[in-house]
Amino acid sequence: MWKIGNVEIKSKVVLAPMAGITSLAYRNFMKKFGVGLTVTEMVSDCGLIYGNDKTIEYLKTTEDEKPVAIQLFGGNAENICKAIDVVLKENSNVDFIDINLGCPVPKVTKTGAGSALLKEPKKLYEFMKKICDYSPLPVTAKIRLGWDEKSINFMENIAALEKAGVKAIGLHARTAKQGYSGKANYEIIRDLQAKMSVPLIISGDIYTLENALQFLDISKATAVMIARGGVGHPRLVEQINHYFETEEKLPDATIEENIAYLLEFADMLIEEKGEYKAMMLLRGIATKFFDGYPNTKKIKNALAQTLTTRDSLMRILSEYR
Ligand SMILES: Cc1cc2nc3c(=O)[nH]c(=O)nc-3n(C[C@H](O)[C@H](O)[C@H](O)COP(=O)(O)O)c2cc1C
Repeated sequence: MWKIGNVEIKSKVVLAPMAGITSLAYRNFMKKFGVGLTVTEMVSDCGLIYGNDKTIEYLKTTEDEKPVAIQLFGGNAENICKAIDVVLKENSNVDFIDINLGCPVPKVTKTGAGSALLKEPKKLYEFMKKICDYSPLPVTAKIRLGWDEKSINFMENIAALEKAGVKAIGLHARTAKQGYSGKANYEIIRDLQAKMSVPLIISGDIYTLENALQFLDISKATAVMIARGGVGHPRLVEQINHYFETEEKLPDATIEENIAYLLEFADMLIEEKGEYKAMMLLRGIATKFFDGYPNTKKIKNALAQTLTTRDSLMRILSEYR
């Protein structure tokens, strides 16, 4: 057990925010496997301020998934503060406001938001100080190592964030320029937690229990964020939790178990989004439940290309079986 501010977090596993993936259904699905903290997809400050219905939808959370953070992005601190007002008005069940300081997408960085904020630690301090002073909820932040390999400045940015009043820091161990490819660099953050005053949550390339243990050992971080490694492999969360309780490794899920997980998730997604939209989203996610198992090329193609209804999902799965 560890804490962010005064809020207890019961697992070392945090569910990473992922736009297009960490919907309400996905977060609640992963919660059953034991994630200690969930984070929404990144939500636009301006979308909230303008009362955009689709943006406001992102603010929905459930009692079961608590503690939960709403992740906001924007390039202007005043606007983020206004967006926090909207969050509080729409949802009184939120535990943290997480600020996205890692998004590398040009559409976002062009507006001075996401990882663009990492370029100047002094400005980052002023930006985050305004937000931390304003927010009635504890503020957390998610950063990267730096903008590019020539400007690795996470130490300065972490100091700026801590001074501003941030209560936990998620660090994706890649630069913004790396995007989502290339290897996460954990050597560069060796023993980082010892140099920090708030919990460090590490992110990047955690696909197995062994990855989690190795990267925790290097960085001495308080917690791990599970992102792509958990998509289609929810057992990973249980394996990490179980290891910290017993020092034993739970077996990987069998293909039959993973198919059962997929069906459970599909039904939760249908309930949230309606059948058609759920199936369109599932085209990109369902295939991941088959990664790492033999002879899955055909079923992956079928899932990615022909899913339209729950019946079509059942048909594809029974043909595979
Ligand atoms: C499809 C996708 C969407 C993402 N969206 C967000 C986001 O909205 N906010 C954020 O802070 N990070 C986002 N990330 C980054 C992840 O939270 C995580 O830090 C990153 O994927 C590294 O972990 P991994 O290598 O284990 O996937 C996203 C990543 C992916 C793959």
